[in-house]
Amino acid sequence: MINVIDNQYFHLQNNKISYLFYVMPNQQLGHLYYGQPLGDLSNKDLEYLARKVNKSAGTVKFSADTGQFTLADRGQEYPVYGSSDFKAGALEITEGTTPLYTDFRYKSYRITKGKPRRLHQPTTFGDDGETLSIQLTDEEHQLALTLNYTIFNDHSVIVRNQSITNLGTVPRTVQKMMSGVLELATDDYEFLHLSGAWLKERHITRHALAQGTVSISSLKGASGHQHNPFVALQEKNGTIDHGQVYGAQLIYSGNFIGQAEVDEWSHTRVLMGIHPDYFTWEIGEGESFETPEILLAYSAQGLNGFAQETASFIEKHIIDPQWQNKPRPIVFNNWEATYFDFDHQKLIELAKSGKELGMECFVVDDGWFGKRDDDRSSLGDWTVDERKFPKGIKVFAQEIHQLGLQLGIWFEPEMVSPDSQFYRAHPEWVVRHPFSRISIGRGQYVLDFANPQVVDAIYEQMKKIIQETELDYIKWDMNRNITEAYSAYLNEVGIDQTEFFHRYILGVYRLYEKILTDFPTILIEGCAGGGGRYDLGILFYSPQIWPSDDSDAIERLAIQTGTLLAYPLSTFSNHVSASPNHQVWRQTSLKIRQDVAMFGPLGYELDLNQLTETEKTAIQERIAFYQENRQLLTFGRFYQLATGTDNEVAWAVYDETEQKAIVGFYRILSKPNSAADEFLPLSFLSADQTYQVNDEILSGKILRQIGIRKPYQFNGANPDQAQVQGDFQSYIYQIALAD
Ligand code: DGJ
Repeated sequence: MINVIDNQYFHLQNNKISYLFYVMPNQQLGHLYYGQPLGDLSNKDLEYLARKVNKSAGTVKFSADTGQFTLADRGQEYPVYGSSDFKAGALEITEGTTPLYTDFRYKSYRITKGKPRRLHQPTTFGDDGETLSIQLTDEEHQLALTLNYTIFNDHSVIVRNQSITNLGTVPRTVQKMMSGVLELATDDYEFLHLSGAWLKERHITRHALAQGTVSISSLKGASGHQHNPFVALQEKNGTIDHGQVYGAQLIYSGNFIGQAEVDEWSHTRVLMGIHPDYFTWEIGEGESFETPEILLAYSAQGLNGFAQETASFIEKHIIDPQWQNKPRPIVFNNWEATYFDFDHQKLIELAKSGKELGMECFVVDDGWFGKRDDDRSSLGDWTVDERKFPKGIKVFAQEIHQLGLQLGIWFEPEMVSPDSQFYRAHPEWVVRHPFSRISIGRGQYVLDFANPQVVDAIYEQMKKIIQETELDYIKWDMNRNITEAYSAYLNEVGIDQTEFFHRYILGVYRLYEKILTDFPTILIEGCAGGGGRYDLGILFYSPQIWPSDDSDAIERLAIQTGTLLAYPLSTFSNHVSASPNHQVWRQTSLKIRQDVAMFGPLGYELDLNQLTETEKTAIQERIAFYQENRQLLTFGRFYQLATGTDNEVAWAVYDETEQKAIVGFYRILSKPNSAADEFLPLSFLSADQTYQVNDEILSGKILRQIGIRKPYQFNGANPDQAQVQGDFQSYIYQIALAD
């Protein structure tokens, strides 16, 4: 997969992509190509690609010895600002306050086969990975830089990360170090990203590219609700099924920046990595700093092709292998059923009802510990509230297990309430600046996870509960962002406060590592006030994430459509909740709530005591259907179908081996007197086969070229023919090979 030609050209290639770079005349690394596979290249081909007449007028030349050569108009593998290139660079480093204008020259390369999964930091892994490590040095500044590129079989993704080492004796400070760079020869793209807020996370947002910079970022100490560490560049006029798409996606959960800069020659540079604001990292003699990894993904098959490539890569090379293709339990979560108002008996009753309906895992959400009757107290005191559980948590867990259910418990490990024993014992363990004012969010403070002692103390408490309950599932929540970032611990040990944010996230990963080392089979569901930390760093440890506190089926249509551009279906947990919905007070039928929630890991989160007999039957039937089709609905190949209007959403999951599919069609508002004949083409089906679509037998040719007919909606006449009616319509198609 990795071909090195004449110690000058580096070609990473598999059956889906080629990534090509070379040593430029100044011995730095220049980018040549990323896209569809090029096959074997002759020296003539390579020289042709590398040949370049530099822009002369108006540019500054790299040095007096290299003629017209300038970095200004060169695609580069790891550009730095200020040595004839004026665009934003990937690396900034200082000695004291003096910037170093680094000049990293190619020295050697190494190829390593296979990449182990190690829990201390999230990275890609896999036996079939090949990593090309390029060593570069800046002799004058006594610095070494390693650029790592990993390519895997059958995936159109290049994984990158970098490390820098101080070869001198004087400490240096890394001010900025991006995880990845993507250089594109034109600006013929739209910049897509996933933006939003609490209750409306990860909606697809588009910007046209033009000379200048478009950027997204987070400085909240978490990847955040507002922007996701993911950007895609979609070829202008590309569609859901056609055209080139490039993506950059960070394997990291903290502060980040992602940007695309278009220069005066319409060249586009994408940079993504840890946000350089409020960040530095000191490297003393012989010390190194290593960036998080980034995925640079590519597809020529439009947004669906891109999303499918990314999803299958994440499933195989980021998510813990034990969860690959493993059915996820159907969860009952008590949060929207009871909030803080519950006790042992009430939960057992709910668990019994849930079990009768077919649910498989009972998750006790917030409020089981300390003395927590609302969100103002007890975070940090991870011991059971005996007022609510007079027989103790162990007996409760045994009763749940005896019902044949798995047990899950909610924790918010990174937080502490001022009203808690933990805080009273250790006020210095809170993230807090020495000045007197301290911001507070949801009545709570953030614990200093940059301090290993704090992580250990929280873990010891969690461990006891996990052991006592023989816990199957953890919901790991995180409900506020970091302000006035300052660690008393870092101060004590003489580390700069600007290292805090990154050290905090490393502390979070450390806690994950501890839990999963001792309890490797526990299923952790990530959560951060809904979807405030939905990223590949978390997915490395938690194979699924609670995507939003908004459980309204209609809002979830947009959230899920956006999320699935960058993340696999199996990572998206969905709960059927009450109507009217608790977040937007919308009234929707149980049918649409179940029809939306069943795409991905399914759950329920509503008061089961309020259900009518008809609703109970509908839930039982749906759970039985889900159990039969769980693999397809969780791990099937996912397609967004073009509906031609924002008022409609259609999703399909397809199992290629068995050639079966489920399509969900959703129409938000009913429309009077709408078109009589509208279809959704299913291009993934085979033209040579015959399929059963619900009750009808149809040929693959018809289904591919014309499609399934959208459900007929009642609009003033022919009520007996209406398949859907009123607002918030949903319709499910089951498709399988006809006998
Ligand atoms: C926010 C989460 O996203 C909710 O699902 C719930 O767990 C609450 N926190 C509990 O406080």
